[in-house]
Amino acid sequence: MRVTTLRRALVPGSALALTLALVPAAFVATDPTPAAAATSQRVGSLPLLTDPFLQSPGTASVNVVWMTQARGDRHVVLVGDGVASLSERELRLVADGSLKVRGVQVVAAGSSRLSRVAEDSGSQLAVKPTPAEGIVDREVWRHEAVVKGLKAGTKVPYRVVSRAGSETGASGTFRLQPLPRKGQAQKILLTSDHQAMINTPANLQVAAETVGDIDAVFMAGDLVNIPDRASEWFDDARGSAFFPVLQGRGGRTATNGRVYQGAPIVQNAPIYPAVGNHEVQGRRDGQTSLNTSYNAPVPKDVAERVYEERKAELNPTGNPKVKAQWIEDNSFSTTTYEEIFTLPESRSGGETYWATTIGDVRLVSLYSTRIWRGTGATANPANRTAITRYHESKASLSDPLAQGYGEHVFESLEEGSEQLEWLEGELDSREFRQAKYQVVIMHEGPQGLGDNVMPVFADPERIEERDAAGELVGVRYEYRTEDNMLVRDLQPLLEDAGVDLVHNGHSHLWNRFASESGTNYLETSNTGNSYGAYHPLSGRSRPVPPAPWDASNYLAQGNPGGLQAVLPTVAPLRATDGTPLPFVQSNDHVVFTVLDTGTGDVTSYVKDMRTPDSKAVVLDVFGLDRVDADLDAPQLLRHTLGADSSFDVTLHPGATGEVRLLDGDRLLDTATASGGRARLTLGADDLVRGNHTLRVVFAGDAATLGDEDEVRVTVLKRR
Ligand SMILES: [Fe+2]
Repeated sequence: MRVTTLRRALVPGSALALTLALVPAAFVATDPTPAAAATSQRVGSLPLLTDPFLQSPGTASVNVVWMTQARGDRHVVLVGDGVASLSERELRLVADGSLKVRGVQVVAAGSSRLSRVAEDSGSQLAVKPTPAEGIVDREVWRHEAVVKGLKAGTKVPYRVVSRAGSETGASGTFRLQPLPRKGQAQKILLTSDHQAMINTPANLQVAAETVGDIDAVFMAGDLVNIPDRASEWFDDARGSAFFPVLQGRGGRTATNGRVYQGAPIVQNAPIYPAVGNHEVQGRRDGQTSLNTSYNAPVPKDVAERVYEERKAELNPTGNPKVKAQWIEDNSFSTTTYEEIFTLPESRSGGETYWATTIGDVRLVSLYSTRIWRGTGATANPANRTAITRYHESKASLSDPLAQGYGEHVFESLEEGSEQLEWLEGELDSREFRQAKYQVVIMHEGPQGLGDNVMPVFADPERIEERDAAGELVGVRYEYRTEDNMLVRDLQPLLEDAGVDLVHNGHSHLWNRFASESGTNYLETSNTGNSYGAYHPLSGRSRPVPPAPWDASNYLAQGNPGGLQAVLPTVAPLRATDGTPLPFVQSNDHVVFTVLDTGTGDVTSYVKDMRTPDSKAVVLDVFGLDRVDADLDAPQLLRHTLGADSSFDVTLHPGATGEVRLLDGDRLLDTATASGGRARLTLGADDLVRGNHTLRVVFAGDAATLGDEDEVRVTVLKRR
């Protein structure tokens, strides 16, 4: 990435005024074009594939990213109060560095080409490949610049300019800012499952009209349908591609007959996504369409096994890059998603799972998804023509790369998995514990009434079926209730750590749950395009496979996570007999949700699409606020070897959770808080002679935030 240092060139004393005073050196602008007002309209003949969008804000910086079809030869971000009024000619000259304008800083961008995006006959484009042409690479260039020297809470105008030969293209004017300070109120849009669907532009447009300025977007996965299909991100002809609808440049006729553009959100607010199943492209090798590739992911260990068997032929020189590419092309990848976004990273998961702090929010994004497969279940292996979640097709049995492997999990969340071990460290970190709000976004969550919570989120159990002679005749898959890793392994960790909100998607409905420990579970995915709620009040039932599958593993109605759905607190939709519904599955309504970190409220709004001029109304509100624990441990403790030492810590009288005494990561004692105190004991020989600094940690409970303190211990020799 190539970035020039910013040098502020503001006129003293008039930093906020619109300034177009020319620096007397180099050039004089003679363009007679009158000064333009700040507008979101683009100018110039070079098309931009997206407007700019904000990524990865730091305490004094933010990354600006945009895409073009052309490689171009100069890409810059212009920052400052003067940018809105620049004419096309001035934009070109400023971008070149041949004109300097007071109040305008120029930040050069680095460029890279997206490595895997393509189009095929399934693309929604006026001109596209034929089926015979198969999958055709598409040239898309991504430009990114880091704008520095910013102040929290101060929004600065900016626009981007790309040049290719004699052609120039510039975005309209938007506003950027770095991370919010602690205590700075943020309105955060919670959304997911856009997938270029018919009511997605309406959902976002109504959200922006209702909420006003949105400061950040948390998106729980399924941004598009086919991740390697470029047009779904940039220019799908239906008018509901990912960037256009989040940038107010879409235009699709919704189910109510009106055209909605979406809203200019991500030009002005960073987006923090999680990986959904639609961010995972399947096996590309040997595929003739992006859809079949999407539906053909192969577990990594299977691809690795096949590679080992065939490596002499595939990679005679043992080049590690060739090996990595072959495994990616024959299993699955999130490469396009990772190339499009600049996200926080974890050491083990890179951009696929991570945590970051945004003002008062500690946000954890998990990689929680698996391939979705059809529900067909044919008991007789001889009659299986399709690969489904429950079995392999008869024809695929001889080819390990052609099999489906059931709804296999892309990145485990089982106890002992890399991801869960990373998460345990995160949940125990100071950044996590000291944040006012702890939010987890993940595509598939542990609680839900939707279609896709069944089968349970477990590694499929592979059952080989053999004939009397011992020949393999079929493979079927079972998903055991007790193997649900989200409920068994993940949920207790999140609740013990005091997570305030788990926001998931995947089933396209609204529903909410609350655990006794105070963790809230919310799906507020793209309604208006619902896959339904499976609940006695909806009358819908999920299909249950016949014998030999064990029907007790498959829930036709209800929530496999076990919690009761909460009724919306303000204006629930109602059944025809007037009974309030604990879900929204209506395609006549769009629902969207906002977390306001100023009030701690999570507010869901619903709009009836059948009355286009009606306003969205509040469906449900709940609060995340918990009181501070104010944990206080003694500063100094003298401990004599050979005898236990006990001491009290004080904390909020309402706190009821566990208090732990730790030497680094070593647990020395635990006690339950009661009446505003907890007594901890240092064992006679827990420490060696000398000075130690121990941690006292309160993880938080339903009503009290987590906190920690230190105690310095001097260990004296035995009396
Ligand atoms: Fe999904």
